[in-house]
Amino acid sequence: MAFVCLDVRSTCIFFICIIFGCTLSSNTEIKVNPPQNFEIVDPGYLGYLHMQWQPPLALDNYEECTVEYVLKYRSVDSQRWNTIITKNLHYKDGFDLNKGVEAKVHTLLSSQCTNGSEVQSSWSEATYWKPEQGSVESKIQDMNCVYHNWQYLVCSWKPGIGEHIETNYNLFFWYEGLDHALQCVDYIKAHGKNTGCRMPYLESSDYKDFFICVNGSSKSKPIRSSYFIFQLQNIVKPLPPNTLSLAVKNSFEVNLKWNTPEGPIPARCFIYEIMFTEDNSSCMTTTVENEINIPQTSNGSQQLCFSVRSKVNIYCSDDGIWSEWSNEQCWKGDRWKKTLIFFVMPFVFVFVFVIVMMCLLFYKQKALLKMELLSKNFWNYCRKSRRYNHNYSNKANLRIKWY
Ligand SMILES: *[C@@H]1O[C@H](CO)[C@@H](O)[C@H](O)[C@H]1NC(C)=O
Ligand SMILES: *[C@@H]1O[C@H](CO)[C@@H](O)[C@H](O)[C@H]1NC(C)=O
Ligand SMILES: *[C@@H]1O[C@H](CO)[C@@H](O)[C@H](O)[C@H]1NC(C)=O
Ligand SMILES: *[C@@H]1O[C@H](CO)[C@@H](O)[C@H](O)[C@H]1NC(C)=O
Repeated sequence: MAFVCLDVRSTCIFFICIIFGCTLSSNTEIKVNPPQNFEIVDPGYLGYLHMQWQPPLALDNYEECTVEYVLKYRSVDSQRWNTIITKNLHYKDGFDLNKGVEAKVHTLLSSQCTNGSEVQSSWSEATYWKPEQGSVESKIQDMNCVYHNWQYLVCSWKPGIGEHIETNYNLFFWYEGLDHALQCVDYIKAHGKNTGCRMPYLESSDYKDFFICVNGSSKSKPIRSSYFIFQLQNIVKPLPPNTLSLAVKNSFEVNLKWNTPEGPIPARCFIYEIMFTEDNSSCMTTTVENEINIPQTSNGSQQLCFSVRSKVNIYCSDDGIWSEWSNEQCWKGDRWKKTLIFFVMPFVFVFVFVIVMMCLLFYKQKALLKMELLSKNFWNYCRKSRRYNHNYSNKANLRIKWY
């Protein structure tokens, strides 16, 4: 009976330990306080938030130690925490302000400071939620932003559901390097309402978070703001390639070439998609080069065509938007030649015939003219000689009379 009781007691201790986390290590007495005054500050950068804190109390005991902080933060609906270990007293990152943000931080003493295992404080926690105003329906819809040819950004949207004439929307943007959020200066308008914005030149704005807020105003009611965060290099839509050429190398292969689209995007940043059509069948392929050799499937193809479109490749961005398709470039096989011969030969024949006839006629005319001239001369001569004879005979008659 005594044995059973003892057993029950140790089992209880065991479970209590599991639940409350007993630590049986030697340095249970070493403790450290959590960071003080932990807060999330919004400097008005449309989603770029500052998380900041003060050192814990009673840190003097560990003067020779480097104290570190473990910061964890996430959007409230996210499963995954971002974890940062830092010696600083602040950290900044971009957040989607359509959602709330939560963060927590604790102090960390490394094992060198404690002659044993690491010691950590309890968590200091903070949350941030942009005060929501207006109904969800009042928000803009279908926001779409495209960075055309890595040169100018165009965003467009639709007004909220059932919004009145007097509701209008404004776009603000910010990225690291700007002192404060800027408002759009070149709105796209439809029926007097802003439905988009053109942002032509954004100095050193690539490879960093780009924050946008579209909020609105209405006399009758508040309008819910919408927040967006993306990186510009990931929404680039290049121009289509130009100057396509297609050459049939031999009966097996066709060589396709094109020029890199004009603009600031380096040639090494492109990937191309090629649509190759051989009579009725077509195939798609991709390459990062400016030309490709494609095997011909059939020997007697009458028509080969291709067109190309471009996108920024994975070496220069995480994502991209395909350009429009280029104009189609075609090569027409024997049929084309046959058609040419069929239609052009009669014309050539007729032309040659006409020329020959004209030449003949011309020569004939010339010959006739010559003949006419000859005969004229002959008659002239004849006439002259006759007159002479006549005179001579008259003189003879006179002489006869004289005698
Ligand atoms: C750690 O151990 C060293 C000697 O090994 C001792 O001088 C020091 O006080 C100890 N520090 C702590 C925090 O226990
Ligand atoms: C819209 O957002 C900008 C930037 O945050 C702010 O300055 C402005 O007051 C806001 N307008 C409205 C109507 O909320
Ligand atoms: C291509 O399609 C046309 C009609 O769509 C058909 O008359 C022709 O025979 C097809 N050619 C080949 C090579 O399949
Ligand atoms: C195409 O035709 C030529 C001769 O007409 C032949 O030598 C060649 O092997 C053919 N190629 C294919 C892919 O059928």
